[in-house]
Amino acid sequence: MTRQRRAGGRAPDPKGAGRTGAGVKGRGLVARAGAGSRMEGWQGWDEYAPFYDWENARTLGRQDVRFWRDLARRIGGRALELGCGTGRVLLPVGRTGVSLVGVDRSAPMIARARRRVRQARLSARVSLVRGDIRALPFGPAARFDLVMAPYGILQSLVREADLAATLASVGDVIAPGGLFGIDLVPDLPVWAEYRKRVRFRGWRRAGRAHVTLVESVRQDRARRLTIFDQEYVERRGRHRARRRFSLVFRTLSVAQMTRRLERAGFEITAVLGDYGGRPWDPRADVWLILAKKT
Ligand SMILES: C[S@@+](CC[C@H](N)C(=O)[O-])C[C@H]1O[C@@H](n2cnc3c(N)ncnc32)[C@H](O)[C@@H]1O
Repeated sequence: MTRQRRAGGRAPDPKGAGRTGAGVKGRGLVARAGAGSRMEGWQGWDEYAPFYDWENARTLGRQDVRFWRDLARRIGGRALELGCGTGRVLLPVGRTGVSLVGVDRSAPMIARARRRVRQARLSARVSLVRGDIRALPFGPAARFDLVMAPYGILQSLVREADLAATLASVGDVIAPGGLFGIDLVPDLPVWAEYRKRVRFRGWRRAGRAHVTLVESVRQDRARRLTIFDQEYVERRGRHRARRRFSLVFRTLSVAQMTRRLERAGFEITAVLGDYGGRPWDPRADVWLILAKKT
């Protein structure tokens, strides 16, 4: 998903719709669920993978990367990134010299991260594992000194049970006294709903493909869900390929998230309102929670 400032806040423009078939040239497959009711938070990312870096380069910037790099350097030891995607955070953190594991459920996302790790010659220290953060794929001996949940990954957990399972699973793999860092994207619920708005136009594949992103946003306020329906239209010469998919996010308040962390056996050590360390306040456009496993 991308993140951008909007109406004084920052927002991702997560995308998306239900699980779709692979984007087939000239044919988009859509599985839209009414107000996100049947959608899963892990869906849509496979289809988004080819466009993720392209879109983020236009909207996100890298404000959060330095924060994670500094934290990993300070904590040292072994770190884990939940939902590492294409390696946007993983690579810079890996370059600090920490030993790092990235886990992600999406094969196309993780394939991109794997290629970048190899190209950066970080394979000795940085490894990638395909798996679901609700049941982390590590044995009982796994111990991480730092677990990072950047860029709203916990908002991909669209049910209370998904979040509870993830917090329990992190609790199982984090070392005693280890740090759990969580970055939430605050303003998803205040995005206005709209239909089929052209969000971006631009060139990809070194100018060989022209891409248009058409986006719709839906809110399911009762369930705290924000749903992004995305349509990427890519033109290469006379060929047109269309990919449609949706992404769904669930946003809890800072208070709600900290309560759930405490219930799962974490102690909150800091709540920050920017990436420089300023304490959080209700108007902050960054929601960062640091917690220790008690
Ligand atoms: C917003 S992207 C973040 C990627 C990366 N951390 C970054 O900051 O650019 C979210 C990633 O989480 C992954 N994801 C979503 N739900 C997941 C789940 N239940 N288990 C594992 N990965 C998941 C998606 O496949 C996607 O790659």
